[in-house]
Amino acid sequence: MVSVNIAFAHHKGGTGKTTSCVNISGFLALSAKKVLVIDLDPQANATSALGIDKNNLGESMYDVMVGDAEIADAVLETEIENIHLAPATLDLVGAESHLYRMNNRISILKRSIEGIRKYYDYIMIDTPPGPGLFIINGVVASDYTIVTLDPGVFALEGVETLNLIFDDINESSGVKINPRMAILTRCNKASLFSMITGKRDPVKEIKKGMKGFFDSVYTVPYGVEVYEAQLKGVPISHYNPKCKAGVAYKKIAEVVMR
Ligand SMILES: Nc1ncnc2c1ncn2[C@@H]1O[C@H](COP(=O)(O)OP(=O)(O)OP(=O)(O)O)[C@@H](O)[C@H]1O
Ligand SMILES: [Mg+2]
Repeated sequence: MVSVNIAFAHHKGGTGKTTSCVNISGFLALSAKKVLVIDLDPQANATSALGIDKNNLGESMYDVMVGDAEIADAVLETEIENIHLAPATLDLVGAESHLYRMNNRISILKRSIEGIRKYYDYIMIDTPPGPGLFIINGVVASDYTIVTLDPGVFALEGVETLNLIFDDINESSGVKINPRMAILTRCNKASLFSMITGKRDPVKEIKKGMKGFFDSVYTVPYGVEVYEAQLKGVPISHYNPKCKAGVAYKKIAEVVMR
């Protein structure tokens, strides 16, 4: 066994990277897949969403990225069966300036996970917003990149910028980024009002525009259960898998497994 590595990426904040990473991981774990979630974001949202207190940690991704620890020393068990976590802490903010001084700065994560890939079916990497070295390390370490988008008017422009970032990485490192799948998160159905007035469904429009960039585009509806699960520190699969957002993430996890 050698893991399939998947990064969740978008330079924009709040597009649903962490939510998608954690919730897809939950359904993979329910299907008896061994999953490692790597939190590469100093905000440590994936760490909290998996019920781990970021203020009470030993080794974390900070130590791994600056070369002070092996990733195996940072990995924790979570309360969720089949999910391990390489947690983040706020001090990860300071790691980036260390990375800039290193020659192999874009492939530090890739090399640090080489030795543990055999223990997992999936390594799921949550990257922070911004076009910095962490998103680059995340996508370089991955076999696939999943791009998450909020269905706003600027979603398509965001994809164009992101493609430029991926092209840059490709040019400077030779690493080809494989963003096959996009997820539109927090989608609302076209409102009754807009249907009555004959306006077009914005989500449908955006989805159509995305088809040129990605092989597949999935939508996840807005659901208060997503927020509730995050508060509880468990994936939606272990809180309310039957809610609409849960069903959508289950379907995406099934696609990932195929
Ligand atoms: N389907 C959904 N239904 C309801 N709320 C959602 C849904 N998806 C995401 N959210 C909420 O939207 C917010 C942003 O999501 P999330 O934190 O996953 O984005 P992100 O891209 O990881 O953000 P950042 O760039 O800051 O890391 C969160 O508060 C999350 O709870
Ligand atoms: Mg996040």
